Amino acid sequence: MAPRSIVAGCGSYLPSRVVTNEELARTVDTSDEWIRQRTGIRERRVAADGEFTSDLGLRAAEEALDMAAMTADDIDLVICATSTPDETFPATATRIQARLGITRGAAFDVQAVCSGFVYALAVADNFVRLGQARHVLVVGAETFSRILDWEDRSTCVLFGDGAGAVILSANNGEAANGARGVLSTHLYADGRYHDSLYVDGGPSSTGTVGHLRMAGRDVFRYAVVRMSEAVDAALAANGLAAADIDWLVPHQANLRIIDAMARRLNLAEERVVVTVDRHANTSAASIPLALDEAVRDQRIRRGDLILMEAMGGGFTWGSALVRW
Ligand code: ACO
Repeated sequence: MAPRSIVAGCGSYLPSRVVTNEELARTVDTSDEWIRQRTGIRERRVAADGEFTSDLGLRAAEEALDMAAMTADDIDLVICATSTPDETFPATATRIQARLGITRGAAFDVQAVCSGFVYALAVADNFVRLGQARHVLVVGAETFSRILDWEDRSTCVLFGDGAGAVILSANNGEAANGARGVLSTHLYADGRYHDSLYVDGGPSSTGTVGHLRMAGRDVFRYAVVRMSEAVDAALAANGLAAADIDWLVPHQANLRIIDAMARRLNLAEERVVVTVDRHANTSAASIPLALDEAVRDQRIRRGDLILMEAMGGGFTWGSALVRW
């Protein structure tokens, strides 16, 4: 029987510096009230000078290895989802790989902005299903603080830094229906929406890093519609209904988007893992950060059905269904 990938462990890391809404209101024309009402965000973490995306990713990876009771030697593929790599190249995944002391197997980055973790999970799952990898370290790590225009109040209040990681392992013996593992992933993109969310710089265009630019209302409008389609596809592919979902672990962009998705799925508030209030939007790191929190505080238990969904720049979007 073809192998299926199970989540063998997870981990996360947040930089120590907390930046509250009140602190931001001292430098840009905003207020705690505006930010909380429109987004649900109260505070975010910001990486220290000299603290890079790979540093955050490494800490999350170490925690995931610990939970999985594995050593770095077990890992034969490292995938890092990030839009804020340490350098233009090489891949941040290779930096994390080297810091873990891994010298075999493959390592590469996946770039799908806020959908990055779902994309990376899908890639990892396919490597496992095809027998090309046995233990994959999937990291979502970002330092969005480095690409924000700190004078643009419409974007700088929305994002934060952080990292999360999972280890996907081949589990040949448990491939029957209903068993643990990644049940399905569904990925989508429509590049016509470039102008709604992008960074106005890059090695090939300006030779600079650039700053994040966003038409917030456009993103908002499409997010719920697109993510709902991805969720419907996931449920249909598995012959499941929304009522079967134990936990929604959504990309944490905005509490209003999360609430709209939960309402659409008729999921009670306590079945939705929310971290956006404390982390803000950490892009590719937001889902594994939320997942790790809910696993460690024992909300998520063995056998639970978890739905992940995300949408980000591109636009890219997608969903993943995982039996924990
Ligand atoms: N503080 C105070 N006022 C602000 C701020 C701020 N930080 N930012 C914008 N405003 C003002 C605007 O200038 C505008 O003023 P005006 O009416 O005088 O022109 C007013 O508030 C309303 O602005 P809108 O952009 O229309 O506000 P909206 O209710 O749409 O909320 C927001 C903006 C929070 C960005 C919302 O559109 C949103 O969350 N969109 C989704 C964006 C997102 O989540 N992006 C993340 C990446 S993609 C993803 O992860 C899904």
